[in-house]
Amino acid sequence: MIVSSTTDFREAARRKLPRFLFDYIDGGAYAERTLGRNVSDLADIALRQRVLKDVSAGDPSTTLFGVKQALPVALAPVGLTGMYARRGECQAARAAAKKGVPFCLSTVSVCDVDEVSKASSAPIWFQLYVLRDRAFMRDLLIRAREAGATALVFTVDMPVPGARYRDAHSGMSGPNAAARRIAQAMFKPAWAWDVGVMGRPHTLGNVAPVLGENSGLEDFMGWLGANFDPSIQWKDLEWIRDLWKGPLIIKGVLDPEDAKAAADIGADGVVVSNHGGRQLDGVLSSARALPAIADAVGDRLTVLADSGVRSGLDVVRMLALGAKGVLLGRAAVYALAARGEAGVTQLLDLIEKEMRVAMALTGVRDVASIDRSILAELKS
Ligand code: FNR
Repeated sequence: MIVSSTTDFREAARRKLPRFLFDYIDGGAYAERTLGRNVSDLADIALRQRVLKDVSAGDPSTTLFGVKQALPVALAPVGLTGMYARRGECQAARAAAKKGVPFCLSTVSVCDVDEVSKASSAPIWFQLYVLRDRAFMRDLLIRAREAGATALVFTVDMPVPGARYRDAHSGMSGPNAAARRIAQAMFKPAWAWDVGVMGRPHTLGNVAPVLGENSGLEDFMGWLGANFDPSIQWKDLEWIRDLWKGPLIIKGVLDPEDAKAAADIGADGVVVSNHGGRQLDGVLSSARALPAIADAVGDRLTVLADSGVRSGLDVVRMLALGAKGVLLGRAAVYALAARGEAGVTQLLDLIEKEMRVAMALTGVRDVASIDRSILAELKS
């Protein structure tokens, strides 16, 4: 199969993965309206075509949090990545490091932060969820720092797990134990032994100590619901700010007031995100929410964005709407599931190529020049 776009990678992943895993990656909350709008609102953004502006020296590199990167993108934190490819987090981190973009490791990864750090030739970012066990959270943060993680991405849009009906049907979550048993029985990739095929402890490296005996991935979303802390408030972030001296990025902000609160607690950045449409169906797409947030805090924070980005053209659109950098979620995971490290490398090359074309045809030579002036219209 010739793979030349995210659509192709998605199709290859669909063929390769067992249904319950593909649906877990591909699906969103409720009727998946926000998931759909993330993609379609972004695709609807019209750009101004400009000509004869000498675009022979286009440069898609940028600097985020003081570090030069080849592209204004990072790989988003994605849970269970090590189930889509063998030691999947390590494979994706290696591809990102070779390309010169950051890889962000999820709290709920198969490979733990030490393993991924060692596998990667560049420093990684680390994503933290709010767990009830604060002492464990603190220890995990210290581990991440000692492993050399440079930036902390603190995800705030999952105080409770979203209702994802595809997962309930496939047995990934909820009371459908029969579906779960069938899904587990069918999950037989070469690396099944080292992820424990759901249901064995130590499946999730970073959180193994709080998984409990034999809980593993049995009812994954149920486990998240039981261990995530819905009582967290902005003031609770102060101790994280005290503990983590490097860049602190608050992920999952969709409202300008929350973005201001993030700036007030001393964060360095925000990710405008609705978790890829996996949390509250019906909220704004990131593309729609982004301009107001960039206006509100763009001078105080580095504004990043994700949700719905499927191409280099989409990256340029997000930058035009006010983001300084973009996280790739499903796009990168489809590529990883399809072809492992080589797939992620191929995806990043594709993103670069598409960015270069979009920059040339909108008449911009560098990332700093990508702003609203390249939009044909800004939809409200
Ligand atoms: C995620 N996302 C996510 N975010 C996070 O902070 N921690 C996590 O563990 C996960 N896990 C996760 C699993 C899967 C399968 C997906 C698809 C997503 C959200 C992710 O970081 C990002 O915000 C979205 O994926 C962006 O949307 P797109 O690019 O997938 O549309």
